[in-house]
Amino acid sequence: MDKIVIDGGVPLEGEVSISGAKNAALPIMAATLLAPGVHRLHNVPRLADIRTMKRVLGLMGVTFEESGGLMGPPLPEGALLVDTSNLTGWMAPYEVVKTMRAAVLVLGPLLARAHQASVSLPGGCAIGARPINLHLKGLEAMGVKITLNQGYVEAKTKELKGAEIILDFPTVTGTENLMMAATLAKGTTRIVNAAQEPEVGDLASFLVALGAQIEGIGTDILTIHGVEALSPAPYKVMSDRIEAGTYLAAAAITKGKVAVTNAPVAHLTAVIEKLHDAGVRCATSGDRIEVQPGGGLNGADIKTLPYPGFPTDMQAQFMALMSVAKGASVITETIFEDRFIHVGELKRLGADITISGNQAVVRGRRHLSGAPVMATDLRASASLIIAGLAAQGTTEVHRVYHLDRGYANLVEKLSALGARIKRVPA
Ligand code: EPU
Repeated sequence: MDKIVIDGGVPLEGEVSISGAKNAALPIMAATLLAPGVHRLHNVPRLADIRTMKRVLGLMGVTFEESGGLMGPPLPEGALLVDTSNLTGWMAPYEVVKTMRAAVLVLGPLLARAHQASVSLPGGCAIGARPINLHLKGLEAMGVKITLNQGYVEAKTKELKGAEIILDFPTVTGTENLMMAATLAKGTTRIVNAAQEPEVGDLASFLVALGAQIEGIGTDILTIHGVEALSPAPYKVMSDRIEAGTYLAAAAITKGKVAVTNAPVAHLTAVIEKLHDAGVRCATSGDRIEVQPGGGLNGADIKTLPYPGFPTDMQAQFMALMSVAKGASVITETIFEDRFIHVGELKRLGADITISGNQAVVRGRRHLSGAPVMATDLRASASLIIAGLAAQGTTEVHRVYHLDRGYANLVEKLSALGARIKRVPA
């Protein structure tokens, strides 16, 4: 298994372009099931999770083309043709769902198109229990009969019907599953306390391009008027706000001068504000954010919240940054119950962090020092890379397959910014 080796201490310098958003591309790929035909998606990141979603959809008869040739001329980088003309299955097996929970996103579209779905129940994962009870409760309200059989959610409906659904928590993939199911339901569905994450909005915009009728996009109340049928449409996936935030943190921790381009600036407000609080100077212009080497780095408190609050997917990276800031920072995680697994590894690099319940107190140190560390989930891995960029000496990050799930060309992008980083077979 490969490892990433970093010789820290080099201030990053240059420009880095942000790829398409993983968490928008995944539900959009699932949503192609709703409209039989050939879809042309753009800005799809080349990531392990995207390949996994292709595998899931492939099991249902969906075919793909990403280099062109078979369905026409060569395709530009990031393009993906998805042919959903023939649906031959409706099952997402355990082998796939256990490696990528987002596979449950096929549930809503399959029910809308085939009136049935069999999806493995995702178990717990590295960051918490992560049940899908809210997805299922909402679907039941829409007339779906759900049974659990040998670890699988068996879902069937004669006809999906519109419903009033009040979510106990604004679950991201739950909102997405219900919104997708509602597009082809009979009547109107209202999802109250819907997730407002930009990726939910991007999926909604894709559905509208397919012919769906959705009001309230970007707000916490989505009203979906079911239509008879949807048809394919070309769509460009939004850029990845978490990838952008990760490069901002990497630039800040190395006191570098980096321009992050193709960034979804409007969706990064909470992250940019916290960087400002920590003394990091960020100048934005259009889709570009420039981090300038400023004075010192100060401690700043964060509390993860549903959007537009500070994203849980940036918590680990921000913690790495705070581990070398002046003073103490309190980091409160409210979205997932177990998302501090990176703490033990950051401590191996010399970070001073104490956990009490869902709060971590980080006392900034002057230096971190390189060590072998283990990646445990996607964002935890990103935090170790960030810490390694600043640490004195060599850091080896093991189990890098987590990073491959969510960061396109990470080693290449950081190398181009001057980092001494390489991927080597372990
Ligand atoms: N929850 C329930 N019941 C449900 C659904 C969620 O109790 O039916 C709880 C979860 O256990 C968790 C909280 O609600 O404590 C939030 O979960 P949510 O459903 O919003 O998360 P998700 O949809 O499973 C997506 C992203 C995650 C991101 C979270 C929060 C995708 C594919 N995944 O997960 O991304 O952390 O929203 O913003 O969109 C990542 O990219 O590294 C990642 C983990």
